[in-house]
Amino acid sequence: MRPDPKPIHEKIAERAKITTKVGDQPLWEGYGQGAATRTPDQVKTQPEMGLAYSQLIEQIRPAVVVEFGTAFGMSGMYWLAGLELNGSGHLYTFDPNQVWADLARENLSAISDRFTLTIGTFEDNVGILPGPIDFAFIDAIHTSDFVKPQFDIVASRSGPGASWCSTTSASPETCVTAGMLSRSIPGCVRRRCSAVGSALWSWPEGFAGKVLSR
Ligand SMILES: C[S@@+](CC[C@H](N)C(=O)[O-])C[C@H]1O[C@@H](n2cnc3c(N)ncnc32)[C@H](O)[C@@H]1O
Repeated sequence: MRPDPKPIHEKIAERAKITTKVGDQPLWEGYGQGAATRTPDQVKTQPEMGLAYSQLIEQIRPAVVVEFGTAFGMSGMYWLAGLELNGSGHLYTFDPNQVWADLARENLSAISDRFTLTIGTFEDNVGILPGPIDFAFIDAIHTSDFVKPQFDIVASRSGPGASWCSTTSASPETCVTAGMLSRSIPGCVRRRCSAVGSALWSWPEGFAGKVLSR
C-alpha cells in the first residue's frame, strides 16, 4: 500500500521554516560574485513545485536520481519524498558550496537516508554514480556556458528511458537551461506551471535512447 505523503510533506514544510531562519549565506565562489550572499528563500524550490517534483518521482520510479545543485536541500527533500513513497531509488546530489551543503545535509537527513550528498561540482564528481542516470535535475548555474557541457555529461551517463528536467523562472538568465533543453529535445513537455512563474520541464519515457542513438 502507498504510504501517506502528508507526514513527509509536513516535515519538509517544517524544515523549510527552520532553513529560512539562517538568513544570508555566502554564494559559491564559482559564480565570480565576490562576497555575494543569498538567503534560502532566494534560491529554494517553492512547495507547490516541490509537490510536483515528488509526484514526478512517484510516476517515473527512477533508481538513480541526479540533482545539481543541492543548495539548501529544498528540491532534494522533495525528490527524496518521492523515493521514500516509492520505497526505492537513491538521490545523488552535488553542490560545491560547503556551507550550504552542510545545511542541506540536515534537511535531507530529516526526510530519508536514500541520498548521497557530494560537496563538489557535478562535473568533477560524476564518477561516483553507480550506474546509468534514470532522472536528472539540472539546477546549477543557468547559463549556456555551464549548462551545455553539463547536459552533455548527463546525456552520456543516462540510461534508455531517462528523464531530465530543469526549471525556469521570471528571470531570463534562468530560462537558459529549460529553453536549451526544450529546443534540443523533441517531445519535451511542460509538465507543471506554478503561480510563482516557475515551470517544470520533463521528457517522455524512452526519449533518452533516441537522443543518444543507442
Ligand atoms: C538555484 S540553486 C539550486 C536550488 C535547489 N536545487 C533548490 O531548488 O532548492 C543553484 C545551486 O547550484 C550550485 N552549483 C553551481 N554550479 C554547480 C555545479 N557545477 N555542480 C553542482 N552544483 C553547482 C550552487 O552552489 C547553488 O547552490
